[in-house]
Amino acid sequence: MKPGDRPDPFTVRAQKAGYPARSVYKLEEIDRRCRLTRQGLAVLDLGAAPGSWTKYLAEKVGPRGRVVALDQNPLKVACGPVVTALELDVTTASLGDLALLGPFGLVVSDLAPHTTGIRDADVFHSVELVDRAIAIADATLAPGGNFVAKIFQGEGFDRVRADLRARFGTVRVLKPEASRKESTEVYLVGLGRKAPPPAASP
Ligand SMILES: C[S@@+](CC[C@H](N)C(=O)[O-])C[C@H]1O[C@@H](n2cnc3c(N)ncnc32)[C@H](O)[C@@H]1O
Repeated sequence: MKPGDRPDPFTVRAQKAGYPARSVYKLEEIDRRCRLTRQGLAVLDLGAAPGSWTKYLAEKVGPRGRVVALDQNPLKVACGPVVTALELDVTTASLGDLALLGPFGLVVSDLAPHTTGIRDADVFHSVELVDRAIAIADATLAPGGNFVAKIFQGEGFDRVRADLRARFGTVRVLKPEASRKESTEVYLVGLGRKAPPPAASP
């Protein structure tokens, strides 16, 4: 922040509420609009550090729920026994191993690449991460479950949305108020995972 700049209201709110990042208000709005969380739910949180979404999810699922938080970096919040945090690279972790962590009723991804300022490159890497989040959801999300992923709009967006439409009953695109206006990020929400097609018989 430059001297004289006013502090961002979402940052101030997050700090007062004990969340490490303002991004919690993006998930809160998506949850309010799409009714994703409930007590007892099992949630997979991809790209979880520093941990605002994880803390929010742990509060929402309560003591009978669970949250598995994956990131290549450590969380900076204490979330209690509901949360299992694993430090790993989601692009190289085995889908078979990740499947053993499930099934989940909700998979959320706030995965974001290191941005370069080169728009096409940033979009490309964002789409790669969303594709990976979808592959992980394919391996871990229960039928009827819901999915949320951050994506930078650009080349690949329409194809990813079509991929989600093939998997979910309803697909929504949301730009939460806490998402900076100058950012191309939006959130794709898949509601009601369709049952996967039965495996072909030999
Ligand atoms: C915008 S931050 C997530 C913020 C988080 N939702 C919160 O509320 O605190 C994006 C995260 O994606 C993680 N990330 C990016 N690529 C990753 C990868 N290949 N494997 C694991 N984590 C990754 C980054 O380490 C970073 O913590």
